[in-house]
Amino acid sequence: MLYPTKWKAYELIDAGNGRKLERFGTLITDRPEPAASWSPGFTKAEWDSATSRFSEDKGQKGSWSKDISDFTLSYPFLDTGIRFHLKQTAFKHLGLFPEQAENWEFIRGKCAELIEKGITPKFLNLFAYTGGASLAADRAGAEVTHVDSVKSVVTWARENADLNHIDSIRWIVEDARKFVEKSVRRGDVYNGIIMDPPIFGLGPKGKNWKLNRDLPDLIENAMKILDPENRFFILNTYSPQLPLNDLTTLLRSVSRFPKQFEATTLGLKATSGKELELGNLVRF
Ligand SMILES: C[S@@+](CC[C@H](N)C(=O)[O-])C[C@H]1O[C@@H](n2cnc3c(N)ncnc32)[C@H](O)[C@@H]1O
Repeated sequence: MLYPTKWKAYELIDAGNGRKLERFGTLITDRPEPAASWSPGFTKAEWDSATSRFSEDKGQKGSWSKDISDFTLSYPFLDTGIRFHLKQTAFKHLGLFPEQAENWEFIRGKCAELIEKGITPKFLNLFAYTGGASLAADRAGAEVTHVDSVKSVVTWARENADLNHIDSIRWIVEDARKFVEKSVRRGDVYNGIIMDPPIFGLGPKGKNWKLNRDLPDLIENAMKILDPENRFFILNTYSPQLPLNDLTTLLRSVSRFPKQFEATTLGLKATSGKELELGNLVRF
């Protein structure tokens, strides 16, 4: 499992009993985490220190035991760091997936290699959410295109860019598949692509995104717009229906996908010592 090691403002304190105890700055949260299927490492007294607890109602929607005002959180990155505007949502999230910091470091390294070769990296972030990878790539010197199909989420990502005084990202509210299909037709070429598709998502009218059904075509097309030589690629998936072995088999069936790639899991290591796997990670 790969996990980020540079966070200071964020900490996974413990995980267990289907929940995770985390610190975001001074805020301690207790949220559902289906992957934490073991007993917690720390005592009930430690868990009782949570400032706000999320309880699920129906589906994934629910509510927090205490409302906290919006706040900012910093990740140490290059000279300036990256700042995020966080807020409690009705879907247990706060606007940040802290495990993704491992990918931001990978993006930084790959962009530095390309810049060293005299190339200004063109970077595409698909299913981009609040923009963590977009901000990291911009800071690392890339020209960034950020695509998400949900307008309010793109607005949130733009707020994060403003917070970081970043004004050079291209913002696109569109279905990721549709955007990539158009890019293939236009003959666009990117040096780096990250995609973090959900199990189910929103798509253009009447055509929802389904990971197991739609991923192969998306990867096939993404490979057509990735520079054949000076390139990098990151794919995250979270579906229990798509274990790492099945994912790598699927990728090997995509004709343009390279034969050599890294395939592992991405997660977080808790202060209690528990290791929380949060999805599959494939990259090259
Ligand atoms: C798991 S989140 C990605 C989190 C991101 N990796 C991060 O670290 O910030 C999935 C995102 O996909 C978006 N989404 C869902 N269906 C989509 C589609 N068909 N096309 C583009 N974006 C979509 C959602 O709005 C959501 O922001």
